Amino acid sequence: MSPAPGDEVWVEHPCYPLTHAQLLLAKVRPHAIPVDAQGMIVNTGRRMAPRAGAVFVTPSHQFPTGVAMSMARRLELLAWARESGAFVVEDDYTSEFRYSGPPLASLQGLDDSERVIYVGTLNKALFPGLRIGYAVVPRALLQAFIGARYLIDRQPATLQQAVVSEFMGQGHFAAHIRRIRQLYREQRDALAETLTRRAAGKLDVTLPDQGMHLVAYLRDGSSDVEIEAAAQRAGIIVRAVSRFYRVARPRPGLMLGFSGFPRQLIVPAASRLATLVANRGAN
Ligand SMILES: Cc1ncc(COP(=O)(O)O)c(C=O)c1O
Repeated sequence: MSPAPGDEVWVEHPCYPLTHAQLLLAKVRPHAIPVDAQGMIVNTGRRMAPRAGAVFVTPSHQFPTGVAMSMARRLELLAWARESGAFVVEDDYTSEFRYSGPPLASLQGLDDSERVIYVGTLNKALFPGLRIGYAVVPRALLQAFIGARYLIDRQPATLQQAVVSEFMGQGHFAAHIRRIRQLYREQRDALAETLTRRAAGKLDVTLPDQGMHLVAYLRDGSSDVEIEAAAQRAGIIVRAVSRFYRVARPRPGLMLGFSGFPRQLIVPAASRLATLVANRGAN
């Protein structure tokens, strides 16, 4: 069974807004399943929408919280998919950027029942305008995927694919990933250290093992949307985590990207942000 208009699906809450928007475009009914420190709470999904035909997850770096789905939850989710005949869409959008922690087994690798559709992207590892992604799909869905791809824009641009293939074949992609992974790790650490040092007591800074952003939660419950606006006036782009919540009460926090800027820019910007947060709390 694969979802058709009107069918129920599970989506993480909070979640990547474009996933939610795509589901609405597909006219399915997304159920917001909360995420805790172990990832999507499968039991809640079972209770809220036991007949869902698909589930959309970001298990290696939950968007936006950065939580990695625990092994217990991975197995629970796969067991539910097997029992119910649902498909799991595993959006592994930052697969190349793992900095620390044990290697994660993908849902697709753990799945022995052909229930998982694994999707990845090269637009983050290379550049956003490249528009090359990839999917590993169960055999039963292959023809449907080929048909849908053809309907979307007939065929992908082959020139870019040939260039990327050559780039990979000559070892440049692997070297590039090794280099930027190291760089991003340093940038992540510089951001986290600066915020923690300058706004201790005000921010709970999470240090994700993977990904291109971290979340700094506001300890005193101040409005993340107000801080987002104040930061923007000070020339610092942050995203209020509460914007990604639609149902339950959000935990206010700031989503901070660390991949796009060198350490020399991140440290002063993080200091200014920390001062801004600390001063607001004092008012
Ligand atoms: C959770 C998540 N999934 C998928 C994507 C898709 O990335 P792209 O369309 O650039 O490949 C993004 C991009 O930010 C993302 O954050």
